Amino acid sequence: MNGVTVAPLSMQDVPAAIALSLAVFPGGGETSLRACFTRECNRFFAATADGVLVGFGGYSIAADQADVIDVAVSPAFRRQGIARALMQAVLADAQAQGAESIFLEVRASNAPASALYTALGFTMCGVRKNYYKNPREDAVLMTHSLGAVSDKSVEE
Ligand SMILES: CC(C)(COP(=O)(O)OP(=O)(O)OC[C@H]1O[C@@H](n2cnc3c(N)ncnc32)[C@H](O)[C@@H]1OP(=O)(O)O)[C@@H](O)C(=O)NCCC(=O)NCCS
Repeated sequence: MNGVTVAPLSMQDVPAAIALSLAVFPGGGETSLRACFTRECNRFFAATADGVLVGFGGYSIAADQADVIDVAVSPAFRRQGIARALMQAVLADAQAQGAESIFLEVRASNAPASALYTALGFTMCGVRKNYYKNPREDAVLMTHSLGAVSDKSVEE
């Protein structure tokens, strides 16, 4: 995390966030991504290094439930704690916005993301069969109570 800062994603960050998203999650559409990053009920955070966006994480909120939209970090900046910092910002912000719990879906084969979420205290709460396409794959549903935001990896 040396020299990397995490802050709410600004309008100036949107083109770089779209580019990172298209690189990391191929198949997305630029127009729908722009709408996602700028929609009022979605709240995104950006990680920047020397003014360059190297990661983002965001969620949506409705009443007392929040849902993680996505988290992604540029390949050259991975395993430095950036996604953890982004997700901690997401959890703290969702809690401050009044969410009591937060949910997410992750591809069953996405071991790095599953490990990240587990380290942050998310637990599995279900499976959506064949939820993802290209390739078709189950989604693992995970949840985290926001009554007590914690990072197991920090507590241990
Ligand atoms: C998943 C992703 C966001 C992790 O980003 P990151 O900045 O490298 O993650 P961090 O460095 O903050 O890792 C925090 C913890 O997550 C776990 N983790 C992260 N990447 C891991 C990997 N490749 N293998 C095993 N555990 C991993 C570890 O517990 C790690 O703690 P540690 O480094 O002290 O062991 C990144 O790999 C990525 O952008 N992947 C592509 C997009 C994606 O799949 N997003 C999730 C969609 S649901």
